[in-house]
Amino acid sequence: MTQHVFPIPSALAATAHVDRQTYQDLYQRSLDDPDGFWREQAQILDWVKPFTSVKNTRYSPDAVTIEWFADGTLNASFNCLDRHAQGRGNEAAILWEGDTPGDTRKVTWNDLRQQVIRLANALKKLGVRKGDFVSIYLPVVPEAIAAMLACARIGAVHSVVFSGFSADALAGRIEDCRSRVLITADEGLRAGKHVPLKKNVDAALENLPFVEHVLVVRRTGRDVPMRAGRDRWYDEALAEVPDECAPVAVGAEDPLFVLYTSGSTGKPKGMLHTTGGYLVHAAASFRAMFDYRPGDIHFCTADVGWVTAHTYLIYGPLANGATIVLFEGVPTWPDSSRWWQIVETYKVNIFYTAPTAIRSLMRDGEGPVRQHDLSSLRVLGSVGEPINPEAWLWYHEVVGGGRCPIVDTYWQTETGAVLLCPLPGATNLKPGSATKPFFGVRPALLGSDGTLVEGEGAGNLCFADSWPGQARTILGDRERFLNTYFSTFPGYYFTGDGARRDADGDYWITGRLDDVINVSGHRLGTVEVESALASHPSVAEAAVVGMPHEIKGQGIFAFVTLKEGIAENDDLRRDLIQVVRTRIGPIATPDRIEWAPQLPKNRSGKILRRILTRIAAGDYENHGDTSTVADPAVVAEIVRRVQESTNSSAL
Ligand code: PRX
Repeated sequence: MTQHVFPIPSALAATAHVDRQTYQDLYQRSLDDPDGFWREQAQILDWVKPFTSVKNTRYSPDAVTIEWFADGTLNASFNCLDRHAQGRGNEAAILWEGDTPGDTRKVTWNDLRQQVIRLANALKKLGVRKGDFVSIYLPVVPEAIAAMLACARIGAVHSVVFSGFSADALAGRIEDCRSRVLITADEGLRAGKHVPLKKNVDAALENLPFVEHVLVVRRTGRDVPMRAGRDRWYDEALAEVPDECAPVAVGAEDPLFVLYTSGSTGKPKGMLHTTGGYLVHAAASFRAMFDYRPGDIHFCTADVGWVTAHTYLIYGPLANGATIVLFEGVPTWPDSSRWWQIVETYKVNIFYTAPTAIRSLMRDGEGPVRQHDLSSLRVLGSVGEPINPEAWLWYHEVVGGGRCPIVDTYWQTETGAVLLCPLPGATNLKPGSATKPFFGVRPALLGSDGTLVEGEGAGNLCFADSWPGQARTILGDRERFLNTYFSTFPGYYFTGDGARRDADGDYWITGRLDDVINVSGHRLGTVEVESALASHPSVAEAAVVGMPHEIKGQGIFAFVTLKEGIAENDDLRRDLIQVVRTRIGPIATPDRIEWAPQLPKNRSGKILRRILTRIAAGDYENHGDTSTVADPAVVAEIVRRVQESTNSSAL
């Protein structure tokens, strides 16, 4: 296969933090002497009590231990705020651009620090103590960052819930970590539409009496019901507390946050991240992978509800003292030049986004990009799903003017920070490849029987050793943590992804191997969507699989069996879509629902999703080994129906 290779731009090779030789030397050193390597990297932070031990990790089949810098103490908010406010207090920490064009705020390091301190005091007044969980359900506004850092300041653990999730999804995530305090807003704004956040909160809290306090940010200023004794306006709560709050020194292994992500069962997993290792990995990798220089303006488009924002919009950049652009809106509203207008206005140097957005903007052609001066851009990044070469080339040429390297960064909510990525001054780029391991990271490809694939080849993507940003457990379910990540291939962390390694040792992610689908860079468990569908009184059962989708990467295809006597019709289809949106949120909206009189099952009653996946992809003949199907006529009938509706919608 001929392969585009983009060599390292010579100007970058000469000036980058890491050049090719440095990468090779440092990578080798990070494997040979992890303690020495990470001890040095950890100096990117200020520690209250310096650590003496660095790496204490073990992935043996009978015991998994993950500890980094365990006897050190530090404070994340001090590292992300105070040390930059000293001397640069009046410079911008956050350049906020609201959903409505022209609605902007500049938040200086002093402003942000003041807000964090007051909120930390307000939280203390509400009884929040070190180790307590605080849920955050906010749009992309500076208060969301202040809320995270205020928790960190007092050693509380934040749980940010994406504000696009429904009341039900929010309730499940509050119930799991049992936070007594929630921070939200009256409403959100998205592409000019009002999102009823407080209303969702009220619905979510109906059956959660343990939530004692809700702080409400005034975002749109519209009237929302406030429950006496429970709800308070954020600004009022902040106005009445002192403006001093010393950062609490916490242990490196004390938790910083929990963040929920989908897995193979209906229940999202609360990935628990700790303070020291996470922050070292976030800060050091941010600096290296974007070749960050003091004074750079960094724009990461992720919503604060996802791990990408935690690590590379907030903690990594702020720990480095970077000025960040925080954008509340969407790239296509009021029109598809919005991001490029922001890049021009703020003279953005580093831009980090997801392939799905690039694909959707490509449809509108080069015009909206060309209207703007993007010459400030130096490094581009991609995250969340494999980037197809066509989108990569467009991003490189049209957005990056052919001069900016694209760092395709592979990682997960569980990994905390990057595991595979090019470094701008060190790595030749190949469109679609996440290229090489980050420092200290040992990738391994394993065959399904557990044999190690050497050299060129494909397999289950695993990692043979720990890294500092790794999640330490699933909140409240250590058993599930061990089973999900460490039991399939004993001695390894298993990602759930497949990957290929080429002759140059570059990695290419081929996608999820489990019952997780990646819709527009967002992870969804097929079982979550199935349970939402099955909660409808007319549904007997449902099977959900991913299907190829031009913009979203994967779309959601649902096969639904109705109860006896229920008529198949479009109204019911609409009802089912509504059920999913109510139970999970708009991101889980099925792209296609087909009625299936029965679902293909094996003799013990297990739904054969792999057959449905092929049918959803338009492959009506090759169903692989069908000998396990209890009743082959069921498959034939589903194929007939899917073909028929595909043909009729193509007319
Ligand atoms: O399948 C991989 C895909 O996204 C999954 C992780 O999703 P999440 O925990 O939501 O985190 C997304 C942001 C870090 C992975 O298991 N993925 C992530 N980055 C890439 C990717 N697939 C291919 N290339 C990437 N760069």
